[in-house]
Amino acid sequence: MTVKALSVASEVFPLVKTGGLADVAGALPAALKPHGVETVTLIPGYPAVMRELSRGEVVRTYTDVIGAPMRAIRGNARGIDVIALDAPALYARDGGPYADPAGRDWPDNWRRYAALGIAAADLARTQGFDIVHAHDWQGAMAPVYLRFSDGAKPKALVTIHNMAFPGRFEASIFPALKLPPAAYAIDGVEFYGGVGFLKGGLWAADAVTTVSPTYAEEILKPEFGMGFEGLIAARRKSVFGIVNGIDTAIWNPAADPALASIFDVETLELRAENRSAVETAFGLTGDGPIFCVVSRLTLQKGMDVLADVADALVETGGRLALLGSGDPALEAAFRTAALRHPGRIGVKIGYDEKLSHRMQGGADAILIPSRFEPCGLTQLCGLRYGCVPIAARTGGLADTIIDANAAALSAGVATGILFDGVATESLARAIRRAVEIFADAPAWRALQVQGMTADVSWSASAKAYAGLYARLIKG
Ligand code: ADP
Ligand code: GLC
Repeated sequence: MTVKALSVASEVFPLVKTGGLADVAGALPAALKPHGVETVTLIPGYPAVMRELSRGEVVRTYTDVIGAPMRAIRGNARGIDVIALDAPALYARDGGPYADPAGRDWPDNWRRYAALGIAAADLARTQGFDIVHAHDWQGAMAPVYLRFSDGAKPKALVTIHNMAFPGRFEASIFPALKLPPAAYAIDGVEFYGGVGFLKGGLWAADAVTTVSPTYAEEILKPEFGMGFEGLIAARRKSVFGIVNGIDTAIWNPAADPALASIFDVETLELRAENRSAVETAFGLTGDGPIFCVVSRLTLQKGMDVLADVADALVETGGRLALLGSGDPALEAAFRTAALRHPGRIGVKIGYDEKLSHRMQGGADAILIPSRFEPCGLTQLCGLRYGCVPIAARTGGLADTIIDANAAALSAGVATGILFDGVATESLARAIRRAVEIFADAPAWRALQVQGMTADVSWSASAKAYAGLYARLIKG
């Protein structure tokens, strides 16, 4: 039997991407196919989506979705089966999906993503879908609108990619959502005196997943639960952790057009050419291990701690190549660090997909000192590309990296370095450990080889999602 799934996502690679959510929404449909799941992705009709849409067929026309006319157009966009929501008043804007070109959140984001939820619930019911799989707060109103609609309903699953973004708005928007008054309640969308989109979704969904088993446990604690810990505890039997994979066709060092030299585990020496390319790109000179960073520059990612440790990194003999953007103060801190250490620290502020591949293919290690990390994808790319991950032991990082402690090293199973507690001393110590192991070339090579042979694909996790879909549909 084929299962028909409607994936509801606010970003999907390669159409629109601000982070890992896009990678997951982009890769999961193809990975689910062998398990008998046919996915259509429902996505707002941002300019980047409408431009790429081909073979479009209008499947539904709405005169008024919270004040905006909208057409649902089914088609294909860069290989993805989509239903794009053509609603120029909501989505035809310059800038990113959530913010204007100056980086300020659109003031009507609540309207834009409530509209996504309304359309999702209607399309799920009228277009023959068996299950709605909604992602993060932007998709989370889909199960809420399903809950408050009449007639037969498909099942609904919400995946939490990041609890730090609750999609909470003023209570005054509630009437415009056109939900029954009873929905403004604990059993509904009410969240700490306002309207919580993620809250509503977590309450309404038949099941909830998050993107790693460790994060699924962590969010029961106030430090990680961001105010949702009570709700998560109440729904505990329906909350599951399924770790992300990466698209191993896009992330394949043996056939990556972005690399100066392709390589695999048998030809690791060919990596040297990519390493030189990283040195050139970041103006690095001399020798010593090259640590790289590909990240949003935020507190979640521990980038403030890394900025504090930059001098120590150089003192221990390391070099740093950083690509990222985000918090202006952190951007400035890294720019200053690069000025202090010419030839040892190179920084590029911005977003560059191709360069991120080159860095994974050429740097020696990737630093991920996250305070919390629901899953994290850059460590998976690092493992696949022989770029050894050095990461905080939290969330998906803890689930996907095997620390190079003495036992793991001697058993030949280590794939990276994990450290506890994101603080300058613990990160500096992890960097020192890396520099020491790097000096022992066979030991470092063993880490790379072990990482490159780890399974970072979607295969096991797609099977887990397909199994969960089937269980929910069966009831
Ligand atoms: P998050 O979604 O929390 O930002 P993830 O590790 O799950 O973190 O996913 C981040 C994704 O975005 C990865 O695919 C990573 O390679 C990419 N990425 C992050 N910053 C940049 C950047 N400055 N340039 C290119 N790619 C980036
Ligand atoms: C979020 C999380 C990240 C996760 C990604 C994809 O952005 O911060 O840890 O990998 O979603 O699930």
